[in-house]
Amino acid sequence: MIGLIGAMTVEMELVKERMTERKEETISGITFVQGKLEDVDCVAAVSGIGKVNSAMCAQTMILRYQPRLVINTGVAGGTGKGIKIGDVVVAEHVVQHDMDTSALGDPKGFISGIDMIRIPCDNVLNEKVCLAAQRVAGLICHRGIIATGDQFVGSREKLNQLMAEFGAVACEMEGGSIGQVCYINKVPFAVVRAISDNANDDAHMDYPKFLKIAVHKSADLLCALMPLLSE
Ligand code: ADE
Repeated sequence: MIGLIGAMTVEMELVKERMTERKEETISGITFVQGKLEDVDCVAAVSGIGKVNSAMCAQTMILRYQPRLVINTGVAGGTGKGIKIGDVVVAEHVVQHDMDTSALGDPKGFISGIDMIRIPCDNVLNEKVCLAAQRVAGLICHRGIIATGDQFVGSREKLNQLMAEFGAVACEMEGGSIGQVCYINKVPFAVVRAISDNANDDAHMDYPKFLKIAVHKSADLLCALMPLLSE
């Protein structure tokens, strides 16, 4: 079983439409759709936006379905140089950029409990994601740090900060919390996102304009990935 999590309905509807043998179940307000994607057993859920919603979703999914892998898909704001709208980013690590106990002497982004800043994603899974990306016509794939926080980033000032403090190539609102839950539960995970905007002063205009295009790219990539994950 492979777990697929997207924050918003629009990010998961294409994936769910492409699933067969669907069965639905709702737990704690989150609907989990079990079935096959490209003949591979999956469970897909729309978590809701932000770190708390996505952490609840990931934990519930892991306890109920015991997925062998979790993939967080959807869209992100591109922050790194040369990262363009419509490209794909694959996280090597995720960070929670709004986790800040620096007033107590911790480094910015330090996550107490697991005591780390950068949560590592699964390398073997990432290799397969990049291989799958090569098979989707015209898709450009970047790897690096994805920064998660409970805010939509839409200013040059904030995006410069994310690059300077964390070396982030993209920002979004769920990967870092899903990553924390997966890390604690020892479930390999990946965060794979298509760029809908550049998290800059134009982001509030670009995001609604390019959301659909980006969503299609990440759904196509997920479908290309599935055959590489069948056991
Ligand atoms: N998801 C897509 N674009 C984003 C942005 N600019 N900030 C946070 N999450 C996003």
